[in-house]
Parts: sequence; structure tokens; C-alpha cells
Amino acid sequence: MYYFDNSATTLIKPPQVATAVYHAIQSQTIGNPARGSHAPALQALRHVEQVRLKIAQLVNAQDVSQISFTSNATVALNLLLKSLFTSTDAVITTENEHNSVLRPLYQLEKEGMQLDFLTLDRLGRVRLDQLESLLKENTKAVVINHMSNVTGQLTDLKKVGAFCQKYNLLLIVDAAQSAGVVPIDMVEMQIDALCFTGHKSLYGPQGTGGIVLNNPTLNLKTVFSGGSGSHSYDKEMPHQMPGFFEPGTLNVHGLAGLEAGLDFIEEQSVESIQKELQEITLLFLEQVTAISRIQVYGNDLKQAKENPENHGAVVSLNLAGWSSGDLADVLYEEYDICVRSGAHCAPLVHKHFETVKTGMVRFSFSSFNTKEEVNIAVKALSELALER
Ligand SMILES: Cc1ncc(COP(=O)(O)O)c(C=O)c1O
Repeated sequence: MYYFDNSATTLIKPPQVATAVYHAIQSQTIGNPARGSHAPALQALRHVEQVRLKIAQLVNAQDVSQISFTSNATVALNLLLKSLFTSTDAVITTENEHNSVLRPLYQLEKEGMQLDFLTLDRLGRVRLDQLESLLKENTKAVVINHMSNVTGQLTDLKKVGAFCQKYNLLLIVDAAQSAGVVPIDMVEMQIDALCFTGHKSLYGPQGTGGIVLNNPTLNLKTVFSGGSGSHSYDKEMPHQMPGFFEPGTLNVHGLAGLEAGLDFIEEQSVESIQKELQEITLLFLEQVTAISRIQVYGNDLKQAKENPENHGAVVSLNLAGWSSGDLADVLYEEYDICVRSGAHCAPLVHKHFETVKTGMVRFSFSSFNTKEEVNIAVKALSELALER
């Protein structure tokens, strides 16, 4: 099987990830963190704190205690956005967003919050030149996707950070696709808060993710409350991070696997993973753009060659005369190739490219994909392009 659906989840993980999850259970040493002072509870806590430290190092967060774990990026984004914004705020976001950002924002909009959108250009890049024109007196934040899960386009967060600094706005980043494959420096990029997921390019197990805050002055309201292991007689959730966003028992077994995924990334370095992925993406892009009936969206060869750092390892396309669903099915049934068709939970990107009806077929690569596999995918597409 050839797996090119890594933007959905990485299927092939470094072997040490599964070993770590297995060991976390099999060793019978992991209790419930922050729920006691016996050895298993403390050992669980040690594990959790170790993962916080590694996440902080990955994104250059200044305070490890400002990192909370959640079950994925969607939960992280919901908690963060709903704890930050009220009906009197205005928020700038983009057409590049995933539904895990759009839907919580639409919900807040229904409650009175104002929502303004940066549109996309011909290649699916966010029109940062529109930022100034969307400013309102009550604009509180820019909420933005670092890397599109449809086109792979990366947004220049340094530029957005400088804008937010200038106008005293918060910068909130969805790093679900970029964490682990693109360098992120929350200080340099002036990011106030970031959400990540563990099961994509961090190579962790599903059920892991989190929120990283880099601004001690954020005024957060409780969205989700429950057992916190401390202050049990208070009616409210304790306001301190990291417990504030962590009601209930953490997925420590999953976090043990995420720690192994983070170790793998650290060993390779994000920069070398990024470079390796750029080569694979370019190899694919060069060949598929040469197939006359294939249309690639939001990515062009010139950009990929000249500025590979602006693009992640995602290429979405269509083959003339085919719906994306049919093409994905035939790729799987006849060639054993796994890709993702349809809307990719990013409705505004598809509206922008006028692919609401057809969808797109997305190829997304990980560092476990090889050039040989890429060539097999290209061969399959070339044959199908000739056939019908
Ligand atoms: C850009 C983006 N943001 C957020 C998410 C949500 O991640 P999760 O499904 O892990 O919550 C995804 C998932 O595909 C994504 O691509």
C-alpha cells in the first residue's frame, strides 16, 4: 500500500512511538498525573512534564507551564477561541481555515462576535495585504492557519505577528499541519497562542494535542470544567495553566507516544525533515504538472522551485472529467494508493477555487514516503489520464 494521506494522520510512525505507548501500559508504572503522591502518579506527572518541555522546545514557548494537553487540535481550538472571545469582540481570520477554526468562530459570530475574512490569491495564499483594511476598533485578534491542509501554502507568521504587535492584537495560530515539519518560533513570530495536534506530523498517537500560550496576560474564561486534582472544594475550575484547559484525566499513554514522536523529530531536526519533504513534493509536482489533463490547485512549479520554504508537503489536484471521489477510489482500488478526496474540512478554500462540486484529490507526504513511491503515484495518474 502507498499512503499519501499524511495530512489526515500519519499512518507510519517511528517504531519507538508504538513501543512507548506499549511500555507506558505494560510497565504498570503510569498512574494518574496530579492525582496523588504515590510513585505511579508521580511517574505519570514526570512523563507529562517531559512532553510539555519538548513541545516548548519545538515551538520556542517561554513558559512550560503555559502548555495544556487536549485530545486533538479541534478541542484545543474550541477551548482557546471560546475562552478568549466575547460578543463584543471582532476577529480577523482567513479563507484558508479548517472547520476546527471556522465552526467555533461561526458559533461565536452567532452570539454577536464580528468576524472578518482575509481572502486568498490565485495560488491560495492568504492576502495579508488586506489586514489593515479589516481592522475595527474592537478587533481583538488574528486567528490564522499556519499551513493549509488543502494547498500546503504557508502563511508568513512573522509578518502577521508584526502587524498584530503594531495594532495590539492577539495572534492565534492553528499549527495542526505545520508543527514538526516547519520551524515555529513563538517568540520571533510574536504568537500569543498556538494549537497543535499530536497525530499528524508530530508522529504521536491519535488522541493527543494541545494549546501553547505565550502571553501571561490573556484573560480566559472557563469553557470546560471538571476534576482538576486540586482546589476540589471550589465551585470553579482553577484558573492556572496548564490545568485550566485540562479537566479530567489526561491521555498519558498517548502522551508517552507523542514524546517518542517528538524525540524522533528532534533527532532528525525540523529543518532536515522540511528539506526532505520539499524534495519529495517538488518531484511529485514537477511530474504531475506535466500531465496535461491534471490541474493542480494552489501550488505552482515556479513557486515551489524558487521559494520551497513557502510550501508544505501537500499537493491537491483534479483530473479532467473525474470527480475527486471517483479518482481517489480508483487510485485505491486499482493501485493501492491512499489519498483524500472531497472538501478536506476547508469549505472556503474550495469555494475560492470553485471546486465545491468536484472536490480535490489531495496527496500529502511524510518523511516515511520515498521518491520511489512518488514515482508510482505519478505513473498511476499518468495511466489514468491516458485511459479516459
Ligand atoms: C489545518 C488543520 N487544522 C486543524 C485540524 C484538526 O486537527 P484534529 O483533527 O487533529 O483535531 C486539521 C486536521 O486535519 C487541519 O488540517
